[in-house]
Amino acid sequence: MNIVKTLAVAAGLATALSSAVFAQSLEGKVIGFSQIGSESGWRAAETAVTRQEAEARGVDLRFADAQQKQENQIKAIRGFIAQGVDGILVAPVVATGWEDVLTEAQEAEIPVVLLDRGVDAPEDLYLTSVASDQVEEGRVAGEWLVDNVGDDECRVVELQGTVGSTPAINRKAGFEEAIAGHDNITIVRSQTGDFTRAKGKEVMEGFLKAENGGADICALYAHNDDMAVGAIQAIKDAGLQPGEDIKVVSIDAVPDIFSAIAAGEANATVELTPNMAGPAFDALAAYMADGTEPEKFIITESKLYTAEDDPQGEYDRRKDLGY
Ligand code: AHR
Repeated sequence: MNIVKTLAVAAGLATALSSAVFAQSLEGKVIGFSQIGSESGWRAAETAVTRQEAEARGVDLRFADAQQKQENQIKAIRGFIAQGVDGILVAPVVATGWEDVLTEAQEAEIPVVLLDRGVDAPEDLYLTSVASDQVEEGRVAGEWLVDNVGDDECRVVELQGTVGSTPAINRKAGFEEAIAGHDNITIVRSQTGDFTRAKGKEVMEGFLKAENGGADICALYAHNDDMAVGAIQAIKDAGLQPGEDIKVVSIDAVPDIFSAIAAGEANATVELTPNMAGPAFDALAAYMADGTEPEKFIITESKLYTAEDDPQGEYDRRKDLGY
């Protein structure tokens, strides 16, 4: 089973590829992909899957790494327009500031598909958006905490994703929604770790110092697994046991968090499939074949994993998949 098929199964995706569309329409097409960068294991896997999906379909993929900068993404998209590509994929680093460049793509009649993050722009400026329900991801993480804390007082520290990105905004909102009405659970500190392991560790070190060496922290909620993995190291360096002294819940389901769960150092993660490109290419293929308009929002699944879900097996299943 190749990486794409394995990921689709692992994520429980029912993408239901139409073989006619798959074989027919994207062979020889040129598709530009403006990727955010490589801030996390999940991002690396999304890039790997996109390349593999493109290759399987005979797509000429033009890849541009924006190094986390929106200006680089806008430049790359303008470059794709100038090259006259057949379609554009973009994973938008932040939500705002896209209207002009999306309008330019529309005027050039180049369909744009958003991957894994949203934009604050009129919906008619893109063909479709393939992403998770990020509010739901936060809600699932928050509900896990509510169920596992009971009536005990629980002071939570939060590592947010990139400021201004839709996953940071929505995962925060979903988590807050889940803990609302549970007055024993409060977020006492919240700061961005920019979705990176290094920043997650650094910010967690500050949280630990500010919270009585960590003794006053009951749980960490991280908007992605990489920040959680960095924070777990900080917790260990502070002489505490992550997963026990401080509960750890995060989002993505990358192999390293399954290692941590298997070792009892993390408690729960919410899966985000890295296979955004499969549904995106399907939508582009159908649109290019006969103008079929896809659903405006194609939503991927958000499944919770804990120590009860064979974390070592999940690690083994994912470790060679591009993360
Ligand atoms: O937009 C998806 C998020 O971006 C992933 O959860 C995170 O790991 C990545 O940086």
